[in-house]
Amino acid sequence: MPSLDRSVTFRKYRFLVDPEVYFPAEDTFLFADHLSVGLNETVMDMGTGCGFFAILSAEKASDVLAVDINPRAVACTRKNVVQNSVGTKVETFVGDLFNPIRSGVGFDLILFNAPYLPVEVDEGDAWIQMAWAGGSDGRCVIERFIDQVPNYLSKEGRVLLMQSTLSSPEATLRRFKKQGLNPRIIAEEHCFFEKIALIEASRK
Ligand SMILES: C[S@@+](CC[C@H](N)C(=O)[O-])C[C@H]1O[C@@H](n2cnc3c(N)ncnc32)[C@H](O)[C@@H]1O
Repeated sequence: MPSLDRSVTFRKYRFLVDPEVYFPAEDTFLFADHLSVGLNETVMDMGTGCGFFAILSAEKASDVLAVDINPRAVACTRKNVVQNSVGTKVETFVGDLFNPIRSGVGFDLILFNAPYLPVEVDEGDAWIQMAWAGGSDGRCVIERFIDQVPNYLSKEGRVLLMQSTLSSPEATLRRFKKQGLNPRIIAEEHCFFEKIALIEASRK
């Protein structure tokens, strides 16, 4: 549960959350409940926020790479990684999607709770807006991610992507197929004025 000191506890982990970083919410928890990491898998946590999935994944993964466009999120993740004693397994980078990653690196699992609301980001806006603003149709970051993700997946790799019904999960399924992946919705939940959907896409 959120508390006034901007920290959240989930299972055995405690996450401190900078005011300019996404506070874990329904989408984070639905995602976490369906996150299954195989022993010694390599994991990428795109849009890591406070490092939530990166830290959960580190229990079983051999290596975790966490990326966020928001430097405050990456600094926050670093602190949480140390506080939760998973520092040796998690590397962090600031960057736009896969820009910080050299091509040819193949991850077994790539995670993204994407910015999916149909909202424009205005220049000069606070970092926190990057957490939810997905452009006029909510698909701006999602589509760039889907187009690039096959280049960073291992042979049997899979992707978990969270989005809202406000930004067309059907279009996401079509786009994954176009990229040669097999997508399916593995979880859905009503959430205020929208439904959130967790999509898994794999090479198999
Ligand atoms: C909905 S938040 C999810 C945060 C965290 N994974 C969670 O579930 O609580 C989306 C995250 O994606 C990051 N983000 C937005 N656009 C991005 C981009 N182009 N490249 C990398 N990260 C991005 C935001 O800064 C934010 O931390």
